[in-house]
Amino acid sequence: MSIKRPLLSLLFLLLVGTLPAVATELPMQQHHHAGHMHGGPDDRKLVMFPPEMITQQLKNMRDHMEALDGILRALAADDYAGAAAIANTRLGLDSPSAVGCKPLPQGAPRPAKGSMEEMMGLYMPEDMRALGVAMHSAASDFATAALEAKGKADPKIAYQALSQVTAHCTACHAAFRVH
Ligand code: HEC
Repeated sequence: MSIKRPLLSLLFLLLVGTLPAVATELPMQQHHHAGHMHGGPDDRKLVMFPPEMITQQLKNMRDHMEALDGILRALAADDYAGAAAIANTRLGLDSPSAVGCKPLPQGAPRPAKGSMEEMMGLYMPEDMRALGVAMHSAASDFATAALEAKGKADPKIAYQALSQVTAHCTACHAAFRVH
């Protein structure tokens, strides 16, 4: 008994000790964590978007999936320029979907009012936003790589760059959820 008790306390501290790190991400979320902890083995961080933003986020995500689908179909048809165009217009750093993830110029405050995409930047924890930028940036790099693959007649260059995009999709999905 005298050995088990400290062990149990230690285990408890280890489990609960992960809470403050999560809670500091976004103070507004704190009251939701109790529910999250009871949710079972799902240890993804719950990001609290307002309901209409969740809808928008998932819509963006389905468009990401469609874009990826289009890119793979274009690559399979040796249409490297087509694949690059989809990446640039729908996933890349200059695509509309990247607006919410891009960092603001140093020192600039996030706008209190703005488009839905701009507002999403306010709600995303910094590490999630950074993963978003990394994915968009990898998509822009893919567009460049796809054209290089065409020039060098080496499809591998394109597929390797595309796997950098999907690696970031996967990393973010492993770490965060919105509902
Ligand atoms: C910065 C984080 C992030 C990145 C990067 C990201 N996603 Fe997501 N995605 C999410 C979150 C959060 C959800 C919601 C998961 C949940 O709440 O269970 C989601 C959900 C989805 C869904 C489900 C949509 C629905 O209607 O339920 C699809 C499909 C998806 N993502 C595709 C992609 C693809 C493809 C990429 C890469 C090209 C990608 N995502 C990149 C965060 C991200």
